[in-house]
Amino acid sequence: MDQFVIEGGATLRGEIPVSGAKNAALPALAAALLTEEPVVLHRIPRVRDLATMANLLRHTGASVDTDGETLRIEARNLTHPEAPYETVKTMRASSLVLGPLVARCGRARVSMPGGCAIGTRPIDLHILGLEGLGARVTQTHGYIEAEAAGGLEGRKVTFGRITVTGTEDLLMAAVLARGTTVLENAAQEPEVQDLAAMLTKMGARIAGAGTPTITIEGVERLHGTEHTIIPDRIEAGTFLIAGALAGEDLAITGCDPAHLDALLEKMTACGINLKTGPDSVTVSRSPGFRAVDMTTKEHPGFPTDLQAQYMALMTQADGISLVTETIFENRFMHVPELMRMGASIRTDGRQAIVAGPRQLSGAQVMSSDLRASASLVLAALVARGTSIVDRVYHIDRGYEAIEQKLAAAGARISRVRG
Ligand code: EPU
Repeated sequence: MDQFVIEGGATLRGEIPVSGAKNAALPALAAALLTEEPVVLHRIPRVRDLATMANLLRHTGASVDTDGETLRIEARNLTHPEAPYETVKTMRASSLVLGPLVARCGRARVSMPGGCAIGTRPIDLHILGLEGLGARVTQTHGYIEAEAAGGLEGRKVTFGRITVTGTEDLLMAAVLARGTTVLENAAQEPEVQDLAAMLTKMGARIAGAGTPTITIEGVERLHGTEHTIIPDRIEAGTFLIAGALAGEDLAITGCDPAHLDALLEKMTACGINLKTGPDSVTVSRSPGFRAVDMTTKEHPGFPTDLQAQYMALMTQADGISLVTETIFENRFMHVPELMRMGASIRTDGRQAIVAGPRQLSGAQVMSSDLRASASLVLAALVARGTSIVDRVYHIDRGYEAIEQKLAAAGARISRVRG
């Protein structure tokens, strides 16, 4: 298993370019299943989850050709409308094909996701939503089977809690349903908006994406399109925090600062030096910056996907901060690892109290999930001495060449293949 070896204390300068958003690209690939015409997607990040999704599409019968960051998908004949266990167990977002496959083929078979490091993460709301649109859903042998032989029916679906991929799954199901679907208590994330923009280009009729109520007028068929994925706000946020810890005029380029509002507000409240441009943010290390409490929330709140990285930042802030995780029940796996590096953190349920600043010292630490690993890399950048971050396959799921991007800005980080 690959490791990162990181020598702390280097200053990051210059530019770090942001890739396309993993969590916008994944539903975009699934949406290509809704038409038999070719779909061309640009700015697809070269990360493992996207390779997994491309293989899943191939498994269903679609062809997927890759040329750098561009993908050409043609879903002419979907001979196997299913997501097998092997795929779903490595990537829970595989459930995103459920909605499009039922809408397009009238049936779908998707493995139930198993356990996950950050929480139980059920997909009951996807299932309830599809049933709401008239699908018959059964569960056998670890698989969910959904059927709507006569097509789906537009209806009102109210999500019991806000779910990002659940909203996307239902949006993709509803675009080909008969009549009008109204999704209430929908997720408002930029990734949902990007999916709606792509579907609209394909001929879908969608209003209200980016608000809690999305209205979809079903159409009979969708056509092919070409679409460029939005920048990855979580990757951008991770590098911004790297800059706040170890940067000197470090520019994070090719991002959309409007998608980073919640983080930028927090960093400003901390007293961190930021300069926002139209598609970049420049950040510098700001000695003596303040600790500020943070609670994760659905968009436009502070993203749970930046909670671990924010906690790494708080270990270097002046004072005590309370970090509260409201989205997932078990997303503090980075805490014991940060403590091994010398951080002072106490957790109680979904709350963590961080006392800073603490001089961290390099240690051998273990990645447990994608964002937790990112926080360990950030901590290692400011730790005294050498850190070894194990199991970086977690980070490879969602960050494109993170070690190369950081090294190009001056970080002393290398990958040891194992
Ligand atoms: N939930 C249910 N039932 C459902 C669906 C969700 O109870 O049917 C619960 C979840 O267990 C969780 C909460 O609702 O407690 C929110 O989960 P959500 O469905 O919004 O998460 P997701 O769609 O599975 C996406 C991202 C995650 C990100 C979350 C929250 C993708 C592919 N994944 O997951 O990204 O953390 O939204 O913003 O878009 C990551 O990139 O590292 C990552 C985990």
